[in-house]
Amino acid sequence: GELKKWTGQTTPVFSTISSSEKYEPTLLGSIPFMGEAEALDAVEAASAAYNNGQGLWPTMKVVDRIKCMEDFVGQMKTTRTEVVKLLMWEIGKSLGDSEKEFDRTVEYIYDTIESYKELNARSAHFSKVQGINAMVRRGPLGVVLCLGPYNYPLNETFSLLIPALIMGNPVIFKPAKHGVLLISPLLEAFRSSFPKGAINIVYGRGREVASPIMKSGKVDILALIGNSKSAIALQDQHPNKNRLRLVLGLEAKNPAIILPDADLDLAIQECIAGSLSFNGQRCTALKILYVHESIADEFNKRFAAKVDALTFGNPWDKSVFLTPLPEKDKPCYIQELIDDATSKGAKVINAKGGEQTENYIFPAVLFPINKDMRVYHEEQFGPVVPIISFNDIQEPLNDMAESNYGQQVSLFGKDIKTIAPLIDTLVNLVCRVNLNSSCQRGPDVFPFTGRKDSAVGTLSIHDALRSFSIRTFVASKDN
Ligand code: G3H
Repeated sequence: GELKKWTGQTTPVFSTISSSEKYEPTLLGSIPFMGEAEALDAVEAASAAYNNGQGLWPTMKVVDRIKCMEDFVGQMKTTRTEVVKLLMWEIGKSLGDSEKEFDRTVEYIYDTIESYKELNARSAHFSKVQGINAMVRRGPLGVVLCLGPYNYPLNETFSLLIPALIMGNPVIFKPAKHGVLLISPLLEAFRSSFPKGAINIVYGRGREVASPIMKSGKVDILALIGNSKSAIALQDQHPNKNRLRLVLGLEAKNPAIILPDADLDLAIQECIAGSLSFNGQRCTALKILYVHESIADEFNKRFAAKVDALTFGNPWDKSVFLTPLPEKDKPCYIQELIDDATSKGAKVINAKGGEQTENYIFPAVLFPINKDMRVYHEEQFGPVVPIISFNDIQEPLNDMAESNYGQQVSLFGKDIKTIAPLIDTLVNLVCRVNLNSSCQRGPDVFPFTGRKDSAVGTLSIHDALRSFSIRTFVASKDN
């Protein structure tokens, strides 16, 4: 919609990476400076577009809504080069991963359109029970507030926004603090593809823009991928929490369990990718490794050497694995975790662990970890890898059972007689067991969810359409 109250002030956006040898962030652009007035404007526009389910967007025919979405994704594809560049400059994501994020998002939109068509084709069928015919449909729920994370500012955000929109819900969308400019190339596509008020973008800090939106009581679904502290704070601000539906992707502390008969080369390779790709800034990253004591010495020595061999540099350099960190306070936080663990008996077992530059801290491999250490409990979301050795498999299983999180696990081993019963136990502790491979969200058609504090609702392409809609039906008796 139009920005009726925007004052014209802007907030500058600086890069994560530096173009010169000396670390100097570059001014990349600016975003509108917004506060409560603009946030409430967005609420008004979204509520008017919904109009208690009678608005243009929620009542639009399925074919027309699909046309809007196809029009959007068609235009989006033309922005690839610019968005990929911004992903690299704003959040330091490698060229390959930035391209993957863009392409995966485009595919996500096309798959969502297909899934939406199937959903509507199925809804058209009548079923007859006890003489009553019922035609089941799925309809929109109302206004959605959508907040995405900085690590996947496109893919994760769109995995909330696209299903919410296609089901007929108007959306208010606040991009993450880092990865905010890359929405700019898409603004014209949003504006020209969807009717007024269907999509409303707000910029700014959570407490300045998201809080007034929640306090207005006009949000029907809170869709957030990020941390539970923000999710709880936002929920609590809604005057009628009982009416609020939640779709949340939150913290995780995914473990890897390496059994005595594991293929060590494979386990090490997967644990490096799992714990340190995008510097460990993934909710699905491996955040603690449990290695059987009989192989711990060997595993630790080889794992530490491989970590030290990882290269650091700018994201467009294809030989580089580690890249600068967008959060300025992250090196300091990671150093705190290292200091805390080493003061309680752990060692940094790789030579380069903890080496710092202005915008980076080299991954530290910490061993042995115990429950008194912060890094055992906290989701580090950065370059530090804690390792625990175990004697009895019940030790990691008990830790997982006690944990507040329950997203995924990686299990490395060969003997099927050991693995099979273990899988039966693990699936009741987490939602995805990865055999001899690291944890990951994709492919995006797979269910993405978690137990306990890790998630509320499920975000596969199929499930997300259901998370953002409600079942309604028409019942008619045989005459
Ligand atoms: O931050 C969590 C992301 O969903 C991780 O996705 O496993 O594809 O990197 P990914």
